[in-house]
Amino acid sequence: MGESGTGKEVFAQSIHNYSGRVNRPFVALNCGAIPKQLIESELFGYEEGAFTGAKKGGNLGKFRLADGGTIMLDEIGEMPMDMQTKLLRVIQEGVITTIGSSKSIPIDVRIIAATNRDLKKEVEAGRFRKDLYYRLNVLPLFLPPLRERKKDIPLLVEYFVKNISQKLNKKEPVILKKYLKKMIKYNWPGNIRELENLVELIVNTGSIPADYFTEENCDNEVLVDISDDCLKLDYVEKEHVIKVLKKFRGNITHSAEALGIRRNTLYNKIEKYNIKI
Ligand SMILES: Nc1ncnc2c1ncn2[C@@H]1O[C@H](COP(=O)(O)OP(=O)(O)OP(=O)(O)O)[C@@H](O)[C@H]1O
Ligand SMILES: [Mg+2]
Repeated sequence: MGESGTGKEVFAQSIHNYSGRVNRPFVALNCGAIPKQLIESELFGYEEGAFTGAKKGGNLGKFRLADGGTIMLDEIGEMPMDMQTKLLRVIQEGVITTIGSSKSIPIDVRIIAATNRDLKKEVEAGRFRKDLYYRLNVLPLFLPPLRERKKDIPLLVEYFVKNISQKLNKKEPVILKKYLKKMIKYNWPGNIRELENLVELIVNTGSIPADYFTEENCDNEVLVDISDDCLKLDYVEKEHVIKVLKKFRGNITHSAEALGIRRNTLYNKIEKYNIKI
């Protein structure tokens, strides 16, 4: 769940890439982008001659393409009610039925469903099946809007500047601190996608449109302290050491082991970064 542009697809792909299913396909289907009457054949496929206009040889369907891997059902909130019923059956029974066939075919896929709607509200409004909602909601993940993770803006800017300049074969622009500050104040209605697009514009033109940041679309306060520290490797190391220490409740031996360093080295880092155990 997350607003548009918060990285739902990137995140779903990452879940797949870091899973045991990585050597099998990752297949995405945007339920909002295909005509409702085609969703069933896109998902479950059809046999040759299943209907007029059916392709010769039939169509495998996304579920079978993704067998052993991951299927991402994007904009699940757009799925029509009758398809929700069919999807629920697939999840419960682990089988699909292609159009024009009576055979049930077992499939093994991880389903990642994404939405920028409030599905709970959709359930209350009677537009989304409650039982399917609970079936899908076994591991809910929320991607926060960029305005709620402003701390990450400098890192993302740095990443996109490098990445996009390289891709477009352009010189890396230097983004002055005063502009970085404005970027942090700005509230990014289009989230990470908007930031990425703005950086591309900066790389291409060497400037930021004068009217991009206005009083209305920015917060008054800079909520994040942007000394350049957060771009440094040390900053990342410090954050990571803190994370691991938290995980092991401050236990030095276990934390050092997890970090793959000696206890003394960990003590030195704790002192260097002034971490309070
Ligand atoms: N953590 C990230 N690091 C780098 N780039 C990212 C990250 N998250 C998202 N992006 C980039 O931001 C853009 C939007 O991401 P993505 O398409 O995953 O968002 P979305 O939530 O699926 O949006 P929508 O709801 O509009 O489909 C993409 O170009 C993606 O590459
Ligand atoms: Mg998406």
